[in-house]
Amino acid sequence: MSGDGVRVWVLNGPNLGRLGRRQPEIYGHTTHQELAALCAQWGTDLGLEVEVRQTNHEGELLDWLNTAADDRIPVVLNAGAWTHYSYALYDACAQLEAPLVEVHLSDPKARTEVFRHTSVVEPHAVDTVAGQGVEGYRRALELVAQHLRG
Ligand code: DQA
Repeated sequence: MSGDGVRVWVLNGPNLGRLGRRQPEIYGHTTHQELAALCAQWGTDLGLEVEVRQTNHEGELLDWLNTAADDRIPVVLNAGAWTHYSYALYDACAQLEAPLVEVHLSDPKARTEVFRHTSVVEPHAVDTVAGQGVEGYRRALELVAQHLRG
């Protein structure tokens, strides 16, 4: 990626690579590739240089978060189901000094499965955006830009 914007990572966790095909009644019809393109465009509009990554491997996400901590990279994070129970993710998020915004396509706290009502990311995030589908990522990037402006 090139450009002069502030670097921001959008990190998506497990099963989000199947967006568009995965339970579209809950997560919508936009694919992960389309989401990545939208985030890049929204970032450009906000003066941010956005890179979108997705992984089904928890250690890989932890490595990215550790690098984000070292390099003070702002993060928009949808950690999928890890959100609800991963204390390793809690510890990784705790190290971040640049703004961390939590995002979810659905609103986990409004869903029937009680396990979704807990978030290990939330205590470390400057904001959480939930239940706004793909548009929520635009909002999350706006919030990152706002927090970076102070
Ligand atoms: C999700 C909500 C989580 O509960 C779920 O496990 C996901 C997606 C969302 O974006 O709505 O994988 O993070």
